[in-house]
Amino acid sequence: MSYYKIQNLEHYFKMYKKSVREPKKFWDKIADENFVWYQKWDKVFDVNMQEAQFKWFLDAKVNITKNCIDRHLARRGDKTAIIFEPNNPEEEALHISYNELYKRVSKMANVLREQGVKKGDRVCIYLPMIPELAVAVLACARIGAIHSVIFAGFSASAVAARIQDCECSMVITSDGGYRGEKTINLKGIIDEALEKCPTVEKVLMVKRTHETVPMKDGRDIWLQPLLDNALDNNVAEIMDAEDPLFILYTSGSTGKPKGMLHTTAGYMVYTGYTFKNVFNYEENDIFWCTADIGWITGHSYILYGPLLNGATTVIFEGVPSYPDFSRFWEVIEKHNVTQFYTAPTAIRALAKENLDYVQRFPLSSLKVIGSVGEPINEEAWHWYNDHVGGKRCPLVDTWWQTETGGIMISPIPFVTPTKPTYASLPLPGIQPVLMDELRNEIEGNQVTGSLCIKFPWPSIARTIWGDHQRYKETYFTAFPGKYFTGDGALRDEVGYYRITGRVDDVVIVSGHNLGTAPIEDAINEHPAVAESAIVGFPHDIKGNALYGFIILKEVGESRDRNNLAKEINQLVSDQIGPIAKLDKIQFVSGLPKTRSGKIMRRILRKIAEGDFSNFGDISTLLNPEIVDEIKDNRV
Ligand code: PRX
Repeated sequence: MSYYKIQNLEHYFKMYKKSVREPKKFWDKIADENFVWYQKWDKVFDVNMQEAQFKWFLDAKVNITKNCIDRHLARRGDKTAIIFEPNNPEEEALHISYNELYKRVSKMANVLREQGVKKGDRVCIYLPMIPELAVAVLACARIGAIHSVIFAGFSASAVAARIQDCECSMVITSDGGYRGEKTINLKGIIDEALEKCPTVEKVLMVKRTHETVPMKDGRDIWLQPLLDNALDNNVAEIMDAEDPLFILYTSGSTGKPKGMLHTTAGYMVYTGYTFKNVFNYEENDIFWCTADIGWITGHSYILYGPLLNGATTVIFEGVPSYPDFSRFWEVIEKHNVTQFYTAPTAIRALAKENLDYVQRFPLSSLKVIGSVGEPINEEAWHWYNDHVGGKRCPLVDTWWQTETGGIMISPIPFVTPTKPTYASLPLPGIQPVLMDELRNEIEGNQVTGSLCIKFPWPSIARTIWGDHQRYKETYFTAFPGKYFTGDGALRDEVGYYRITGRVDDVVIVSGHNLGTAPIEDAINEHPAVAESAIVGFPHDIKGNALYGFIILKEVGESRDRNNLAKEINQLVSDQIGPIAKLDKIQFVSGLPKTRSGKIMRRILRKIAEGDFSNFGDISTLLNPEIVDEIKDNRV
């Protein structure tokens, strides 16, 4: 039986066992039989969890775009690789064939080289969800430049911090972008960001909104004329298996965003393999993942995973609520989508609208539906399963992270029986464990603990760009010898995993990871603020929302509280992005602190949730009286 495609539950268990007992053999066979290489590896892996050193397919030579595009041309040249569905449904959808994609990526790759981009250079891509985004990403990979895609919803200072961190020499952006009824001035944001980014020499500009934008002489260049003059074929760079492929930033619980670095061969093998299995991909399926390419989900399952398998993948520019709440379902019907992959926050938002929006559509093309990004609550699970999946499409609740590169724990459709709110079983090659507070592995079932992974897999992030020490400390020291995910999980009586949420100071708001420390830092910059503490609290649609407890300086005491709250949220929006705005702000005279000065967030979380039942032991607090004051004035 094939190693690449899991056929049934028995086959899954067999493959799983093999992947644990003989990981070298297992990954050797998958990599060997399903990808094209310039040169094969000497060794399948060389890994060290203590030191956070991971190498896969050592000394192999490969180019991921040869695997995503070139090798399909003979058999699938005319097949659609990308369907572009624009924000405005009146604008015609585009079908880009593999032949056409080859030409577009080649032209873009040639332009990048002409403009001086070399192997190893970092290129920032700040584009809306349009075909040029996919083409730019692939063109970077073609020539060995490291792409750093930044979600086109981040503010200028967040963009600047990311560009500075990895010292990009080029930015690819557009005049603007559409999102529902809004037009976003991307160029304005980039211009502001670049005031603080001396490493950027050139800005390539895509035309999307056709609005007039300022162009800086010698730096900004319109892309289209360059593409028109470029050759439409290109010889791919020969990359080492461990050459960097991309950097993608994710929020940590403290400090600046972490530039997670993924390398070439391991990422390729793992995303290709997981795409095939988790979505039961078969030739002629039409796959749609609604994420933005600015997140890992988009990297792995809009672009690389599908294209590695020669699939047709949908790129959707719009939002689920525009022109109305039936947009997702309309697009599924229009393009006969077979696999649909979205986030719980979108499901919850759509589930609260009239059922008619979804019931008008038979959605009979669908085969598999998927969820990602945060725990899916029971109600949302059933709504999605019943009204979108028609109770006939398996719902795959996929747990993974930017750091993991690909899906780690998920049902395999038509193989693993699903259970509401459970991500279920690990994929072959993935060895999850639950750990207790004493750092012991918790054996047996019906237990909860901190979720760790005890053996490396091909697409594990290799480092945090420029800061390997931080990488080691963040992921490999809490539980020595294991990768710590930052999530808590429960293992049920049959061994199924349910992810219960973050156990660190990261809050997931509408599927976006937000570290509370950077938000506090932003707030503390306000001249009237002395100190602040942010916690998450449950929210019907967003999953979690942010609650801020803020102590004012004397100068702030006389100010109008509503105006102050507005200013504080504006500051957060400017520094991080609108997604990080606080839903609730409470001005307090103090924060509950331990004698060593640490804020007791556990208590603040309970107050934010409105749960006053049991604060636990507060006798060790420096200022226990503050708890009642905060509780009584909860907003
Ligand atoms: O807390 C987990 C949650 O999202 C975090 C990773 O976020 P990010 O790096 O942005 O990647 C999101 C997309 C892969 C995890 O630590 N998470 C992701 N998927 C699930 C989830 N929580 C519960 N269930 C999931 N299926």
